[in-house]
Amino acid sequence: MNNLFWEKQAEKLDWFKKWDDVTTGEKPYLNWFTGGKLNASYQCLDRHIKNGSGEKIAIHWENELGENQTFTYQEIYNEVNRLACGLSDLGVKKGDVVVIYMPMIPRAIFSILAVARVGAIHTVVFSAFSYKSLKDRIIDTKAKYLMTADYSLRRGKFINLKFVVDLAVHETAIKKVIIAKRTDLSLSLDSRRDVLYSDLIKNSKDYFEPVAVESNDPLFILYTSGTTGKPKGIVHSTGGYLTYVNYSFGAAFGGAKNGVYWCTADVGWVTGHSYVVYAPLMSGATSVVYEGTPDFPNPSIWWKLIEKYKVSTLYTSPTAIRMLRKLGEKWMENIDLSSLKVLGSVGEVINPDIWYWFFDRVGNKKCPIIDTWWQTETGGFMIAPKIDYKLSDLKPGSPTLPLDGIEVDIVDENGTSIPNGQKGFLIVKSSWPGLTKGVWGDNKRFEEVYWSKFKDNYYSGDYAIKDENGYIWFLGRSDETLNIAGHRIGTSEIENATIKNQKVAEAAVAAIPDRIKGQNFALFVVLKESDLDLDDLRAEITLTLKIEIGALVKPAKIYFVEALPKTRSGKIMRRVLSSLLQKTDVGDLTTLENISSIDNIKYTIKLDKI
Ligand code: PRX
Repeated sequence: MNNLFWEKQAEKLDWFKKWDDVTTGEKPYLNWFTGGKLNASYQCLDRHIKNGSGEKIAIHWENELGENQTFTYQEIYNEVNRLACGLSDLGVKKGDVVVIYMPMIPRAIFSILAVARVGAIHTVVFSAFSYKSLKDRIIDTKAKYLMTADYSLRRGKFINLKFVVDLAVHETAIKKVIIAKRTDLSLSLDSRRDVLYSDLIKNSKDYFEPVAVESNDPLFILYTSGTTGKPKGIVHSTGGYLTYVNYSFGAAFGGAKNGVYWCTADVGWVTGHSYVVYAPLMSGATSVVYEGTPDFPNPSIWWKLIEKYKVSTLYTSPTAIRMLRKLGEKWMENIDLSSLKVLGSVGEVINPDIWYWFFDRVGNKKCPIIDTWWQTETGGFMIAPKIDYKLSDLKPGSPTLPLDGIEVDIVDENGTSIPNGQKGFLIVKSSWPGLTKGVWGDNKRFEEVYWSKFKDNYYSGDYAIKDENGYIWFLGRSDETLNIAGHRIGTSEIENATIKNQKVAEAAVAAIPDRIKGQNFALFVVLKESDLDLDDLRAEITLTLKIEIGALVKPAKIYFVEALPKTRSGKIMRRVLSSLLQKTDVGDLTTLENISSIDNIKYTIKLDKI
């Protein structure tokens, strides 16, 4: 696709200064709209105020206690300006990194926009990550500022986030912590370091001139798992990224300009960045933002929210759909879902049985399902049906075809295109403005992971098949990462965390299917000593993972074995473990060095089933 196409998309944004060149440099470090100047918070707020849409509702927020708030674009603009002034007074300036560790409260979105307004770089850390995960990200970014809330709320329980932050910031470069207080619960403050969000905006000015950044200046860093134990800080630019999320949101969801849009993702993940914050606000949409799970206070909560706010576009994940289906259709009874016009899915393959349930029961056979394939690294949707597709164009289980401007292929190990119907690696051929600018502070890793396997083509890490109509069907990751409830977690990240337990000598993760989460994992552990209480140890290891990574990583099973299956070069053969667990063919074992380990593993699995 030529530059003219992308230039047209970029023209839909408000630039303070137009770009000199559409692209400069070379893949993988292509610059987009070089020389152009803009500001992300201006795109999301000021432009609507200027065109007279300030009174339009931007966000209906609600939580599981039924507390709710509604904000117009003007109200968000007012608060973001004050917050930006406050941040600037604290010393936050262009290029600084600000960590945001907040639950799904409106102030999380305001914080993101205020950081962008001062030209700084935000790095949002999912609020269920542990203090160690948070600390790693603080250290990796060398951030000096952190924004948080006093508590997060999950299934009726308040979780003390500030306590987690206090542990995480210790011995890091953080010099100021800003706390959004949402409860009356007690809070211990360090007077030199801690500042209340409310104090920061109380006396600040009403207007903060948005800082003009160059198109290729980073807007944010978002960590995602890879094949090594250390998560990668994926960097996104300002001009290219915003152009791309705006374009893709228009292409697949028509910009959700009419009606009410609800994306159920958390701001801590890329879907939250691109399609809870940036795309809908740039588009001027009205969104529902919900802080809570589908099953609390009872399983009708999502259906009631759709009815209450007359949601017309619902964008969610297969995990959530599976959960809703399992909870039962009785929770939908007598609830009016007729406002729904478009349904969307992201995060993993939406299998046909779930697709049909979503289509029939939720969409009443009239809403297209926009299955969107993309990644943290791609910035926005890459393969997805376009909004004007006819229902008959959809094929349940396939996100259909690449969006205009995106060119993909399925190749073999050597990078050669393979015939339709055969499994291969999905690559992206031409570049696009939403592509990540790289891994924060680690160009070498960026080049190795994404660009070394298929020279000059972006390697997605996914297996896929192309059918006779060019439709793409995804078959999971080809690298050693798991997709648990739509969240990417590296197997070595989990293994490294497990061996932090002093009693563990070695650990290996085996992927297993999960009815709700799509995928989960079992842990195979080799201990340093024998005669330990294994039940106690299981609880201890589960706790180790919670401390090292976060509560979202919980093994379905922990097996204690004598040795792990390894190749002669010492690589753990995880696929053998998965096959043994699922009783499928273990495949070729010629590279296995310690064949004797297999009998012991089989015996341990069998013993557990008795
Ligand atoms: O394996 C693909 C799967 O999720 C991976 C990207 O994960 P992450 O960067 O965490 O972003 C998730 C939200 C965009 C992909 O490599 N994936 C995502 N969407 C789909 C999918 N697999 C199949 N179909 C999808 N629609």
